[in-house]
Amino acid sequence: MSKVNGKKTSQEPEKIRAMFGSIAGRYDVLNRVMSARLDVGWRRRTARQAIEPGDTKFLDVACGTGDLTLDLAAAAGEGAQVIGLDFTPEMLRLAKDKQPSISWVEGDGMNLPFPDDTFDVLTIGFGLRNMISYEGGLREMRRVLRPGGRLAVLECSHPEGLFMRTVYMPYFKHILPRIGATLSRQSAYKYLQESVLEFPDRRELAAMMSDCGFSEVRHEPLTFGAVALHIGRK
Ligand SMILES: C[S@@+](CC[C@H](N)C(=O)[O-])C[C@H]1O[C@@H](n2cnc3c(N)ncnc32)[C@H](O)[C@@H]1O
Repeated sequence: MSKVNGKKTSQEPEKIRAMFGSIAGRYDVLNRVMSARLDVGWRRRTARQAIEPGDTKFLDVACGTGDLTLDLAAAAGEGAQVIGLDFTPEMLRLAKDKQPSISWVEGDGMNLPFPDDTFDVLTIGFGLRNMISYEGGLREMRRVLRPGGRLAVLECSHPEGLFMRTVYMPYFKHILPRIGATLSRQSAYKYLQESVLEFPDRRELAAMMSDCGFSEVRHEPLTFGAVALHIGRK
């Protein structure tokens, strides 16, 4: 299989954008059904954990339909400047419908349209694994953070131990693609499976963040490690 920067070429931006464009209208429902609504709590926790007193400028990268951006705005409170950025216009349109007052920007997370040292906090929820280079995305997000600012990465992970063997893997391999195929296009959920399986595990992602210049990297498993939250400081 051909690779670009260690990633499969099936993760070319055009293909990713077309895929998310085709499932945008069902994205929120699929999320709720496939995670049994646990995704709501994962995003809320991400927003709350990333923020420190005095933070005012926030960017949610790969914001999709905007749920994490809205959690960020709620946790940040009044006076905060919150931007949601995504490269799929169909997803952004739905985000804008939810909250027109937030600034929604069409742009590429690999080449962010902001100067260096701009934001106090960046978040990315279920977006990093779609990028053609994980390291390239992490370094670009670090560039626009101010020194001392934090990046929070919420992403699917690899649960370990008994839970993984007995509950999660059968669900992930057999049931989740069927739910996906029933509610949406099968190829999108085949892609979901592949992109999760090839994404680094918790410790590998923490090491990658450190290699990309983040310090004080901490990580926690959510829902037995099916999902993980990593936070690192510039
Ligand atoms: C699985 S969705 C996650 C959406 C949202 N963050 C959430 O928590 O549900 C992934 C999103 O990443 C976006 N995306 C993937 N690669 C991107 C890139 N290089 N730049 C901007 N957005 C990207 C897709 O358009 C899609 O909306």
